[in-house]
Amino acid sequence: MSHGKVRFNTLAVHGAGMPDLTKIRPVSMPIYQSSEFVFNSAEQGAAVMSGQEPGFVYTRLGNPTSQDFEKRMALLEGTDEGISFASGLAAVAAVILTYCRPGDNIISSAPIYGGTFGLFKDLMPKMNIEIIYLPAKDIHNQLSAKANSRTKLVYIETPANPTLDVVDIAETVKAAKKHGLKVVIDNTFATPCLQRPIEMGVDIVLHSATKYICGHGDTMGGVVVASKAEIDQIRPMAFKNLGGSIAPLTGWLMSRGLQTLPLRMERHSQNGMAIARFLEKHPQVEKTCYPGLESCPSHAVASKQMSGGYGGVLAIDIKGGREAGRKFQNNLKLCKLAVSLGSVDTLVTHPASTTHLSYSESDLAALGMTPGFVRIAVGIEDPQDVIEDLDQALSKI
Ligand SMILES: Cc1ncc(COP(=O)(O)O)c(C=O)c1O
Repeated sequence: MSHGKVRFNTLAVHGAGMPDLTKIRPVSMPIYQSSEFVFNSAEQGAAVMSGQEPGFVYTRLGNPTSQDFEKRMALLEGTDEGISFASGLAAVAAVILTYCRPGDNIISSAPIYGGTFGLFKDLMPKMNIEIIYLPAKDIHNQLSAKANSRTKLVYIETPANPTLDVVDIAETVKAAKKHGLKVVIDNTFATPCLQRPIEMGVDIVLHSATKYICGHGDTMGGVVVASKAEIDQIRPMAFKNLGGSIAPLTGWLMSRGLQTLPLRMERHSQNGMAIARFLEKHPQVEKTCYPGLESCPSHAVASKQMSGGYGGVLAIDIKGGREAGRKFQNNLKLCKLAVSLGSVDTLVTHPASTTHLSYSESDLAALGMTPGFVRIAVGIEDPQDVIEDLDQALSKI
C-alpha cells in the first residue's frame, strides 16, 4: 500500500503500510495485536457493524486470534461456538447475568470453587438472584423438589474444587430437562479430554482457561462454549455490557495450550493416579480423595462419565490437623506452595493455614474441608520425584 509522498510525522505513524496479509502463510496463527480493524469502505463497515457480513470491528467485540481459540475450544467440546474471557470468573459472571433477572434463582451443586461461591454470595443478593445449593452427590435427586417457575439455570462443577465431589452429569441433565432448565457446567478440572458434557446433554460449558488449557501457570483466561443459539444470547452481555474480553496474546497462548492439552491431561492423570495410590497408604494421611481411587466415594460416578483418566487434582487429610498441614508445607522441597492448579508444576495448598486461615473447624466443615485438608494439583514431572518429596515432607511432620 502506498501513501504517496507524505511528511515525517505521517511516515512515523504509517511506516511502509501493511503487507498483503493474504500472501503470508505462517504455520502458527498470528497474534492480531490490534484493538480495531480497518473497513474496506463505508458500506462494508456498515455491513460488518450490523452483523450482515462477517468481520472484525473492535477487539472487545471479537479478534481473529481470540476467535481461533474459541473455535478450537468449541471443536474440542463438540459444540458450535465459543466466547473467550480475561478470566474464568468473568466467564461465570457473563453466563449468569445473561440468563438471570431479579427474582430468579439458580440451583447450584455444592461445593463449588471459592471464587464462584464468592460471586454468588456477594453479587447475586444485590441483584435479588437466589442461589439454591444442593449437594453435588445428590443434586440430581433433590433438584425436582427445589425447582420452581423462577429457576433459570442448573449450575454444576464436577469434579469440584477443592473437595473433588462429583456430580452425576447425565442424571442431573435428565432432572433439569423435566423442568425445562438449562444446565451449565464448569468443566475446568476434567477438560474435554476427560469429560464431554455436551454429549451428556449439558447446554453450556465453561472453563477457567487459567488452569489446564493454559497449562503452564503463566496466563489468566476463561471460555464459554455452547450451541450458536446460546452463544448468540451470551455474546452481547459478555462483550457489549461486561467487557471482560480476552487479550489477543492471551488467546494465542490458550490456543497453543490446547495443542498439547491431550498429552498433558494424560500425564496429569497418570501422575495423579500414581501419587493418590501412594498417599492412600501413607501412615501420616487420614484420607485420600481422588476420583480414580476405588476407595473414593465419587469413583463409580466419575468412572461412568470420565474417560482417559481422572485429572491431576487430589485431596488429602493429613493426621494432626492445622499444625501438621502447616509443617508439611514447610517441609516440601520440589512441590510448590501456591494456589491454582493445572500447571506443569505440582502445586500444594493447605487452606487452613493459608487461604482459609481465619476459618474455624466448623466453617471449614461447611466447605467440605478439615483442618488437615491439603489439595495437591499434580504436575507433569516424573511422579516418583513428587512422591519422594511428599513422603519426606509427611515423614518429618
Ligand atoms: C473450577 C474453577 N472454576 C473457575 C475458576 C475461576 O477462574 P479464574 O481464576 O481464571 O477467574 C477457578 C479458579 O481457580 C476454578 O478452579
